[in-house]
Amino acid sequence: MRSHYCGELNLSHDGQEVTLCGWVHRRRDHGGVIFLDLRDREGITQVVVDPDTEEAFALADKVRSEYVLKITGKVRPRPEGTVNSAMTTGEIEVLGQRLAILNSAQTPPFQIDEYTDVGEDIRLRHRYMDLRRPEMQEKLILRSKISQTVRRYLDEHGFLDIETPALTRATPEGARDYLVPSRTHAGSFFALPQSPQLFKQLLMVSGFDRYYQIVKCFRDEDLRADRQPEFTQIDMEASFMEEEQIMGLAEGLVKKLLKEIKGVELGDFPHMTFAEAMSRFGSDKPDLRIPLELVDVADLMARVDFKVFKGPADDPKGRVAALKVTGGAELSRKQIDEYTKFVGIYGAKGLAWIKVNALENGANGLQSPIIKFLGEDVSMRIMTRVGAQNGDIVFFGADRANIVNEALGALRCKIGADLNLYTKEWAPLWVIDFPMFEADEKGNMTALHHPFTAPTCTPQALEARPMEALSRAYDIVLNGYEVGGGSVRIHQQAMQEAVFRLLNIDEAQQKEKFGFLLDALRFGAPPHGGLAFGLDRLVMLLCGTDNIREVIAFPKTQSAGCLLTRAPGQVDATQLRDLNLRIRRDPASATSH
Ligand code: AMO
Ligand code: AMP
Repeated sequence: MRSHYCGELNLSHDGQEVTLCGWVHRRRDHGGVIFLDLRDREGITQVVVDPDTEEAFALADKVRSEYVLKITGKVRPRPEGTVNSAMTTGEIEVLGQRLAILNSAQTPPFQIDEYTDVGEDIRLRHRYMDLRRPEMQEKLILRSKISQTVRRYLDEHGFLDIETPALTRATPEGARDYLVPSRTHAGSFFALPQSPQLFKQLLMVSGFDRYYQIVKCFRDEDLRADRQPEFTQIDMEASFMEEEQIMGLAEGLVKKLLKEIKGVELGDFPHMTFAEAMSRFGSDKPDLRIPLELVDVADLMARVDFKVFKGPADDPKGRVAALKVTGGAELSRKQIDEYTKFVGIYGAKGLAWIKVNALENGANGLQSPIIKFLGEDVSMRIMTRVGAQNGDIVFFGADRANIVNEALGALRCKIGADLNLYTKEWAPLWVIDFPMFEADEKGNMTALHHPFTAPTCTPQALEARPMEALSRAYDIVLNGYEVGGGSVRIHQQAMQEAVFRLLNIDEAQQKEKFGFLLDALRFGAPPHGGLAFGLDRLVMLLCGTDNIREVIAFPKTQSAGCLLTRAPGQVDATQLRDLNLRIRRDPASATSH
């Protein structure tokens, strides 16, 4: 129907007759002349309708916001003084000559504006309207461009796009599974994939050598601003490559995206061990744009007679760390109280602090509720260790190491954002040398990456000292977000069985859950490894937002539902019967029967 998109018109089209199709963004009646801002995905053009063109004018008089129109008219420069430099089409307008109303529209639930302040619930309930907003159109158009760039890059590097099943068995990636009941196998369930991990490894056994897929993954886990139950991975796997080569390919992809989408040239990404990241930043995904670091002071605090600090300082699982904020002495009591509340979210029982007013006066120049416990000597030694200057504030965390890391790690990012301490726009890095295993709350060993990740040692060494073993895993971190992760895999059956044993998966379970993988490893599995990026997170960063829902057309809410379709929904009795399922209406009474 159309000859041009609204957004593509400019002075070079002067004098041309064009036909536009789109939505009425705004309609203004200027004493006998009607102005229609017509909008499509490429932008907005101003259409002027004169009373001379009677038929068009009568129709233009009737239209309202969000009516769908087809307009034919002539492009002309805007009269002097009415040029709008904020619009890409701001130098021209279209003199509307023929107009057709293709559809009417009720009054929208909210204004389709560049920026909206209506609640996210309303936007999600009417997502098809929300997505009409230029801001949302831009994000999804950028997402499409990013996917295209990814596909081009991986294609150029010889990766084959191969699809893997969505109805499958559980793949352990650490979350709960979404299950799908089988009608044809009564009482049995498919799991939606948490990732295509096992299938991509099987494709390596089959000899495809380089695989990729832009693929939906499903994880029933606690949601956060950067997590969705259904999200998209750029999933890759390759054979006969060590970590350097795999990481090089993945790094090349991120560099290419930054170059093509943002025009930014990134240098080579630094590598940092997991241990160093935790020690300096309290996080395995440090935001290196922020120049604040955690400094250990347990050895000094062990000398003081203050239980809050001495306890964790003497505990091998404890940590006492300081976080110096340059210029932070200006923080008010109220702000410090807010930060104390903030670290409480992560389980910290308090947030001690020292303001550095006049170092030259020794402890008298320090202002703090804890100086009286620390004494002059320890206080001044701490000041020297953290390199404090007049005008700084030093915060302290003392607790189990994981609480101190989470609390001060998060505080570091919060203060970095609040005080806008960022030193650069983009800070990528690789985190390497992860431990193979960690202990969960019950003390059971779980795989830090996933159970198919190769250790750096032999199966014997692994079984002898599992908690000390490092894995050949690597995470790619950008601006404090884990945007991707992967590893070199186990390709020998003996090693895979050793890992399963350590994870308390006995032989019968190994056979039942992963028999097909163990079988495949017996038939000539090549050395292989790979990585998966979180596409949504990459798009989020490239769009400059910190809310993953902003870059997904139809996202789920924090409680993992869809406000638009009202999914998940109830199903009728016949469907349940076909699936051999019965719903327990009242779980408490059902168990007592
Ligand atoms: P992993 O579990 O680290 O690895 O996932 C890879 C990347 O996917 C993204 N991601 C998510 N994004 C949004 N919402 C979620 N719920 C979510 N969960 C993960 C992250 C993460 O870095 N099979 C392995 C990869 C491999 O070893 O090759 C895997 O899935 O950006
Ligand atoms: P209290 O003696 O409990 O009043 O604590 C003195 C100071 O130490 C206060 O500023 C508390 O916020 C802080 N504090 C208490 N517990 C901790 C902790 N586990 N880590 C860091 N600071 C703490």
